[in-house]
Amino acid sequence: MNIIRKFKHKTSALMVAILMLLGTKTYAQSANGAGIGQDTMLYITFGLVFLVSVLVLIVAIYVLQLLKAFIRKEMTAEQLARYEAEPSWYAKLWARWNDFKPMEEEEELLLDHDYDGIKELDNHLPPWWKGLFYVTIVYAVVYLLIFHVFKTAPLQEERYEREIAAAEALKANQAADIVVDFDENTVTATTESVELADGQKFFESQCAVCHKQDGGGLAGPNLTDKYWKHGGSISDIYKTIKNGVPNTAMMSWENQLNPIRIRNVASYVLSLQGTNPPGALPPDGELYEPEN
Ligand code: HEC
Repeated sequence: MNIIRKFKHKTSALMVAILMLLGTKTYAQSANGAGIGQDTMLYITFGLVFLVSVLVLIVAIYVLQLLKAFIRKEMTAEQLARYEAEPSWYAKLWARWNDFKPMEEEEELLLDHDYDGIKELDNHLPPWWKGLFYVTIVYAVVYLLIFHVFKTAPLQEERYEREIAAAEALKANQAADIVVDFDENTVTATTESVELADGQKFFESQCAVCHKQDGGGLAGPNLTDKYWKHGGSISDIYKTIKNGVPNTAMMSWENQLNPIRIRNVASYVLSLQGTNPPGALPPDGELYEPEN
């Protein structure tokens, strides 16, 4: 019996250690930024394993009850009486984990001093409490190995630094995306098809309501001819989009669009020059001829 008990202690300690190792492994992975997908997969796997374990347990308990019923049937009346008199396993467990002297025998534990009638018992710590204490020791050892000896998981400080580094990299990336080396006076029209496509996409979703999909004009003027109310150079168009035209439906887009976007849209507008779409509004404003 003693051997079995010892064995049980060892296996449960091992299980705790394995569980903690697995736990820290997942933690380390998410800290590495390995991606949500992998983590979710892990959680799902754990969930499934847990579910299956519970099912197996239920079936096992059921089979055990069945076996017991059979055994009972085979017992003689005397055997049955003895069997029923035995306390249940949880009663035994409860007694073992709460092992203390019954009230009537407390007298034996009395220490021999007496302070004005206050006496002291020499009770030992409850086994469940000691069990918890041992778990913390095992935990500490596993923790030490993981974080300080094998360094399988990063410490707080390292994780903080990694996250900062990742954020810095992200910031640098985004900054690189919008290197603005022009202003509204020095801007030049882009001829990059990707940037023109970006401008077109934005024009069609935001500007077409007033200027029509093909730029022929609706509530806003025709943008495909050579006549402009506010100038037809890339710089003029950039300014019109950026600042809008006060007291008209043409609002300022400065807060919605970064400079690159404004340049892309303005360049796209310029690329519509001379397309002569059907049903376009008549010319409005002054003739503008490009310098070259
Ligand atoms: C709510 C309607 C509306 C929307 C949306 C709109 N505009 Fe306009 N836009 C106008 C009106 C009206 C004018 C004429 C303003 C005036 O009377 O001077 C105008 C003028 C312009 C001009 C100057 C034309 C000229 O003759 O000088 C340009 C360029 C222009 N819009 C581009 C755009 C772009 C690009 C967008 C999308 C980012 C846009 N507009 C969105 C209504 C609109």
